[in-house]
Amino acid sequence: MTAIISILLSYLLGAISFSYVIGKKLKQVDIRQHGSGNAGATNTLRVLGVGPAVVVLLLDCAKGIAAVFLGLWLTDGNTTIAAASGLAAILGHNWPVYYGFRGGKGVATTIGVLATLIFAAALISGVIAIIAILITRYVSLGSILFVLGSSIITFFFGDYFGYASSYIYFVLIIAVLTIWRHRANIERLMKGNESKLGSK
Ligand code: G3P
Repeated sequence: MTAIISILLSYLLGAISFSYVIGKKLKQVDIRQHGSGNAGATNTLRVLGVGPAVVVLLLDCAKGIAAVFLGLWLTDGNTTIAAASGLAAILGHNWPVYYGFRGGKGVATTIGVLATLIFAAALISGVIAIIAILITRYVSLGSILFVLGSSIITFFFGDYFGYASSYIYFVLIIAVLTIWRHRANIERLMKGNESKLGSK
């Protein structure tokens, strides 16, 4: 029962879209009608600027961290439920019940989830992603590299880092989900017309 409660609460927490809320509060805009149409930190940067984007990034990331800790806390440390709760928060972010199931791509929430579950793998992949973003200015490419790197490191070095054996399945599901949510970005990346960080 506590497992179901944790997963449900995590979904409901993840479904709070901070880019939507801040867009409405600051400029009375629906972030999903502007820029890339994505309810996330990158599009907040495009539409509302650096300050709001940093706030969105941190709050969306915090949802992922909170969901994992909620799972651990409610189940006395069950790592599988903790990971499932993290996944539920990402699903909530992507398909939020409060906003007609039209949300974001889950990257900031995924950062929070993976940094809590698999810190070393997320840190290494995060550094690779940041370097890729600084070189190419494609946030979407960095997001994809982040989940790919996290999966590969967890697959090959999960035992070395002492990760729970179920984590690899969750990390793989999250990676597939993230890449699938970025399918339009991937198409634009291949055509060479993906929007770059700093451009509108
Ligand atoms: O955080 C999502 C990012 O990877 C891409 O966002 O708005 O460029 O589709 P966007």
